[in-house]
Amino acid sequence: MTTAPTLPTVSAEQVNPLRHGLQIERTPEPCIMIIAGATGDLSHRKLMPSIFNLAQSRLLPGGFTVVGMARTKMSDDAFRDSVKASLKEQGYDTTTPVWESFANGLYYFDADYQDAQRWADLGEKLKTLDEARGTGGNHLFYLAVPPSAFPTIVQGIASSNLGRDANDPLQGLSPTEAHGWVRIIIEKPFGRDLTSARALQREVTNAFREDQVYRIDHYLGKETVQNMLVFRFANLLFEPVWNRRYVDHVQITVAESLGLEGRGAYYEEAGALRDMIQSHVMQVLSIAAMEPPATFKANEVRDETAKVMRAIRPFTPDTIPANAVRGQYGKGWIGGQRVPGYREEEGCKPDSNTETYAAMKFLIDNWRWAGVPFYVRSGKRLARRLSEVAIQFRELPHLLFEQGPTDRVEVNSLVLRIQPDEGISMRFEAKLPGPQMSLRPVRMDFRYGTSFGSQGVDGYQRLILDCMLGDASLFPRYDWVDASWTLFMPILDTWSQTRPGNFPNYEAGTWGPAESAALLERDGHRWRRI
Ligand SMILES: NC(=O)c1ccc[n+]([C@@H]2O[C@H](COP(=O)([O-])OP(=O)(O)OC[C@H]3O[C@@H](n4cnc5c(N)ncnc54)[C@H](OP(=O)(O)O)[C@@H]3O)[C@@H](O)[C@H]2O)c1
Repeated sequence: MTTAPTLPTVSAEQVNPLRHGLQIERTPEPCIMIIAGATGDLSHRKLMPSIFNLAQSRLLPGGFTVVGMARTKMSDDAFRDSVKASLKEQGYDTTTPVWESFANGLYYFDADYQDAQRWADLGEKLKTLDEARGTGGNHLFYLAVPPSAFPTIVQGIASSNLGRDANDPLQGLSPTEAHGWVRIIIEKPFGRDLTSARALQREVTNAFREDQVYRIDHYLGKETVQNMLVFRFANLLFEPVWNRRYVDHVQITVAESLGLEGRGAYYEEAGALRDMIQSHVMQVLSIAAMEPPATFKANEVRDETAKVMRAIRPFTPDTIPANAVRGQYGKGWIGGQRVPGYREEEGCKPDSNTETYAAMKFLIDNWRWAGVPFYVRSGKRLARRLSEVAIQFRELPHLLFEQGPTDRVEVNSLVLRIQPDEGISMRFEAKLPGPQMSLRPVRMDFRYGTSFGSQGVDGYQRLILDCMLGDASLFPRYDWVDASWTLFMPILDTWSQTRPGNFPNYEAGTWGPAESAALLERDGHRWRRI
């Protein structure tokens, strides 16, 4: 094995934060990233491009190394070729010195996750690489395998002591002599219900301390989700009205126009509630509703988001019908194309009851939000791809302008657009030019792209870098995950025990089932027209 040339270490001062879209306080220490499931879709489509982007932006530490791990047998060179091919396919230039240097840091290890000897061999390989590449025992495991394989891999790490690091009270037991840090990124979903999440957590705590565990939700890596924190807590203007005195209700929409993209078998087991609402949507809701933490330290932010989850009024079998709606798309038209219904998609059962749409109403029982409904909706094959948080303010206590027949008075609203066209817009009333006092709603708009000349970086890039830096602020802590599953279990149980009867109940290319509109109409509201 030849020792690969190392990438230059770049100090934070040398990095132009606007050019790279990432501002870092320090460069991560050299480390080895061990990707379990390196032959898979996530690794090739998301992880490798994100890491390569970091390399191109000179944000990776010197000596950065990847060990791709999977059951498929392959040489280091074959692995490098496969990464090169998928990067090329996605439009990356792999003829540059950055690629050469990056490729020299790619290695492959074929694993049998059940075999203790293979884990011992991995320990030896990591030790050799640490010496050759100066990575100092810093190891980042990434679980990019199907969730059913998470426990086996975590058990393998535990039994080989590869999870122990220099901060471990039992340090010295690790085959790598525990002289660096060890962290693990676990892909979503973390469990498929409360019982399996708790079982997985038990396995994880056998191998790692909580501060080593990074449960990834790539949604939290999105600029606009983070900007919600900045918007709320770095401006004086909005926080005073961010409560039940001024806010009438909140609407969170995470809409996809895509269907299953070949992931039918996975989706059949998941559904919209597990796939989107329980994780992404509730993270967004937690950030929109949280109290200001004292500092931006990971645990202080996560204390506040977990408190939101615990304050949400629990569902009971009696309250579910009036507060939770499910849907499944039938065939329809999207962008001028005829698209099949969910039950006709590859990997789906012809009589499937899996929901591809879910909408629900939450009440947060605390001083800030008592009585303010939070409506959320998420679905596949909707009219447009769009994610946003809309804060709808209360009616004016009194309107002093006489309303003519052409006047339009609408309540103030603030919309935080997560994707696409990331930005923030505020609706307020203005006077129509002319001799009369006529009113019209207008919009004040902030667009990321226009203001900063960049849409920011991909969520995975940001989060992988955060993990290397030891910053867990944007990763859900286990108590949040547990509170989320606890909240959704009554709905998951009720839905699995009762057949919806009317599936498919919305046409692809529309905004979801009629029951979803009725959910808001009961409260005198309606979904924003998008
Ligand atoms: N793909 C995405 O866009 C996406 C998005 C969000 C989250 N995720 C999550 O990321 C993880 C990986 O997703 P993916 O789409 O990359 O999955 P995938 O392509 O189905 O699997 C990844 C790799 O895992 C290995 N594998 C498959 N079954 C296994 C098993 N039973 N035990 C051990 N290894 C197994 C396979 O490699 P070998 O056969 O060579 O070992 C496979 O190439 C999942 O947890 C998924 O929920 C994926």
